[in-house]
Amino acid sequence: MKTIVSVAALTLISFASSSMAADAEKGKDVFTQNCTTCHSGGKNIMGVGKSLSKEDLETNKMNSAATIIELVTNGKPPMPAFGKTGIINAGDIENVAAYVLKKADAGW
Ligand code: HEC
Repeated sequence: MKTIVSVAALTLISFASSSMAADAEKGKDVFTQNCTTCHSGGKNIMGVGKSLSKEDLETNKMNSAATIIELVTNGKPPMPAFGKTGIINAGDIENVAAYVLKKADAGW
């Protein structure tokens, strides 16, 4: 319950201050709130070979903002459809995609 409330608050805050350009700094908070359960430190506790490392992203053709945005929006069970269900707004999905790509480049 606490998580849901803070996600809602975060969504409101980022909506109020939303900008057009993807912001990896803001994406960091989105990632911490929504993704670390399965992807802490860029790993993937549910899928072998599906980590967020640069190598895995390249191998799986997930190494672009567009493909990550598509996945986070529509999900791929057991990964939730964060965009379709309204958990994360479109601007923050762009931000979290930018954050993932930046961290993958830096080796997490
Ligand atoms: C419930 C666990 C779970 C959560 C929470 C989750 N994911 Fe995932 N994620 C997965 C699974 C499982 C896969 C592998 C899907 C597949 O079969 O291709 C995956 C795949 C990915 C991939 C592609 C990795 C690759 O090498 O192919 C990216 C990028 C990704 N997730 C980003 C995110 C982001 C960003 C968030 C938060 C907004 C998130 N995930 C939240 C479980 C999760």
